[in-house]
Amino acid sequence: MPPKALITGITGQDGSYLTEWLLGRGYEVHGVVRRTSSLERSRLSHLYVDAAVYGQSLHLHYADLDDPTTLRRVLLRVAPDELYHLAGQSHVGLSFDIPESTCEMTAMGTLRLLEMVRDLSKPVRLFHAGSSEMFGRPAVSPQNEDTPFLPVSPYGAAKVFATQMVRIYREAHGLYAVNGILYNHESPRRGENFVTRKICRAAAAIRDGRQKELSLGDTSARRDWGDARDYVRGMWLSLQQDTPRDYLFASGILHSVQDVVEVAFASVGLDWRQHVRQDPRFMRPAEPTNLVGDASRARAILGWKPEIGFEQLITEMTSAERTQSGSAA
Ligand code: GDD
Repeated sequence: MPPKALITGITGQDGSYLTEWLLGRGYEVHGVVRRTSSLERSRLSHLYVDAAVYGQSLHLHYADLDDPTTLRRVLLRVAPDELYHLAGQSHVGLSFDIPESTCEMTAMGTLRLLEMVRDLSKPVRLFHAGSSEMFGRPAVSPQNEDTPFLPVSPYGAAKVFATQMVRIYREAHGLYAVNGILYNHESPRRGENFVTRKICRAAAAIRDGRQKELSLGDTSARRDWGDARDYVRGMWLSLQQDTPRDYLFASGILHSVQDVVEVAFASVGLDWRQHVRQDPRFMRPAEPTNLVGDASRARAILGWKPEIGFEQLITEMTSAERTQSGSAA
């Protein structure tokens, strides 16, 4: 019998890469999708249309984090060996506008899932996607798994609640439950309103004459950016250990939004000065500072290290935008 994995958030960037990673290792992969009038499955469409994959080793189920009955039913039916909980409202800026629904999905949704897992007769290994945003404005830099959380956004606070609940359920109820503390991770499949994709997309569109300028918020903001494909490998590795514990995944290197702009525009032969402007609409009420991670534990125990660097990632993302739009790369 192949091992079975169930993924919440399977249609997202990480969910789609994780699906490919697990299928490549012989897993039967099940995904939870929300039933809406327009189903966003573009990141999975290459698998969905493959008759040798969809309905064979890949299955999608309708359920929702805010509809516990549906989720419980899927969990009971699938009876997975591994459960990757990646779903939730993941845009930090947006969480200032819709804090209640962000907390409902990210915080309460995770607690509901833990309650279901606790009741399962067959034990499941749970991975929960935490975030560097939980550190907010940390007193120490770089951060590790023991650094106290000081979130500065509703999203960060919701993730702290969910992460702490995972720890509580691991300790109090003996669940095999792991938090990944994930720093920013990007790819050509990144959502279009995250800053790296927004910049790479604009650089390609301006180069091809489809856009004139790019408006950004705080370009001095700095992040520890890695590649999503490296991070999903870390998720999987963290569930293959005898003892469940939390792991931090980061590149350990800080870059500014301005650095992203410069690499992306240079990669298509453009001078960013002629096209980029600041727009207060994209500024956030509060920004975290010094979010840079120390992934020593993941390196030592999991043998994990990031393989794709910042410049390679941004150049690939920009080039992918040109390929997708039909321009010469
Ligand atoms: N989105 C966006 N749009 N961000 C901008 C812009 C803009 O026009 N201009 C500047 N920024 C700045 C943001 O203010 C932030 O400081 C930085 O760019 C990165 O923003 P995002 O790409 O939206 O990512 P994030 O760091 O807020 O959140 C991502 O990483 C977290 C891990 O730390 C998300 O993937 C979260 O879900 C994830 O947990």
